[in-house]
Amino acid sequence: MSQDAMKKAAAEAALVYVQPGMIVGIGTGSTANHFIDLLAGIKHKVEATVASSIASAKRLEAHGFRVLDLNDAGQLSLYVDGADESNEDLHLVKGGGGALTREKIVAGASDKFVCIADDSKLVKTLGKFPLPLEVIPMAQALVAREMVKLGGNPVLRAGFTTDNGNIIIDVHGLEITDGVAMENRLNQIPGVVTNGLFAIRPADVLILAGANGVKTLV
Ligand code: 5RP
Repeated sequence: MSQDAMKKAAAEAALVYVQPGMIVGIGTGSTANHFIDLLAGIKHKVEATVASSIASAKRLEAHGFRVLDLNDAGQLSLYVDGADESNEDLHLVKGGGGALTREKIVAGASDKFVCIADDSKLVKTLGKFPLPLEVIPMAQALVAREMVKLGGNPVLRAGFTTDNGNIIIDVHGLEITDGVAMENRLNQIPGVVTNGLFAIRPADVLILAGANGVKTLV
């Protein structure tokens, strides 16, 4: 089974969390794209959606979903999104697609966060995948120096601008043993809009698809 087929299997398994009349928060990336395409098959159940990126909003609209501004949607029952890494506490690294800020906002506004991924994303210790930071451009050098102090190797994501008009710095070489402490620490650095650690608000459910089927961690 290809990695893409596993992503699709995980997305399919998340459909059971969609209840009639829900406004569903939708993530970003190839796994979230599978979820959007599969959700189109049960569109009658979905009152509306809230998207975590312009790309996902466009894909949802192409399927005929109503896409609301989060400010008009209130608290969401469900958010479904992929991840770049997860540990067994369901602490995540996200932002490989650069949508981490809106993803963290929508996750924070949702009662249940269902994370969908192929099983290569489950790791013992977070940090092998470079940790994305969304940064205000004028803070690039400051944030890079702070990352070096933390033992990381900051690399500007070349040619990339976020939906919010900012840059992404990918921090290589961090070994994140305490996700909550690291997320809090990164939140204190001036110019960091959002860090890609989702530990303070982790996933509630992790659906992992592998060669031997789908398993769910809660
Ligand atoms: C985008 C994300 C994605 O969820 C993450 O990068 C996983 O992507 P994919 O589903 O393509 O593997 O955080 O900002």
